[in-house]
Amino acid sequence: MVNVLVVGLDNSGKTTIIERLKPRPKQSMEVAPTVGFNVEEVQKGALTFTVFDMSGAGRYRTLWEQYYREADAVIFVVDSGDKLRMVVARDEMEHMLAHPNLRKVPVVFFANKKDLPISLPPAEIAQALGLNDIQDRPWNIFPSNGLTGEGLDRGMDWLAERLG
Ligand code: GTP
Ligand code: MG
Repeated sequence: MVNVLVVGLDNSGKTTIIERLKPRPKQSMEVAPTVGFNVEEVQKGALTFTVFDMSGAGRYRTLWEQYYREADAVIFVVDSGDKLRMVVARDEMEHMLAHPNLRKVPVVFFANKKDLPISLPPAEIAQALGLNDIQDRPWNIFPSNGLTGEGLDRGMDWLAERLG
């Protein structure tokens, strides 16, 4: 059993992505903003992930760190079209990576909403978030579309390789 913490700003697409990772009959079509957090179980190949779907809303972000100690991996979701809040995402990300309870765990970044015409490519998001400065853990960034599920397998496979 692997614990995965899913974080990122509100409206980035965390819950949508988690729904898309479930088998089709179990997916809900409607997602609403998460209140607090939800726990889900997701099967990927040989691995069973316990997924903590955290709310990204400002007033709930302090909840994230309560789960760092249990986390084996982090999925950090970024809205590729939300240029205005890229700096807020960077702040939250840096704050998270600096936390002593979250040392060395691998981080997958999903550059989500890649379908939006105004979306930034992953390389530009990596630049904006300063990802190339991360040297104390494995990380990678993958473009994704939470609505279709495109790109999610690549990210989850990368993560599974680091956890297996
Ligand atoms: P909080 O729970 O508030 O932190 O938000 P969240 O990160 O869980 O976002 P959520 O999954 O609720 O998605 C927010 C909105 O973005 C919804 O309207 C989704 O349908 C939409 N959305 C999610 N992924 C994509 C995507 O890849 N492309 C587009 N165009 N919309 C997306
Ligand atoms: Mg949510």
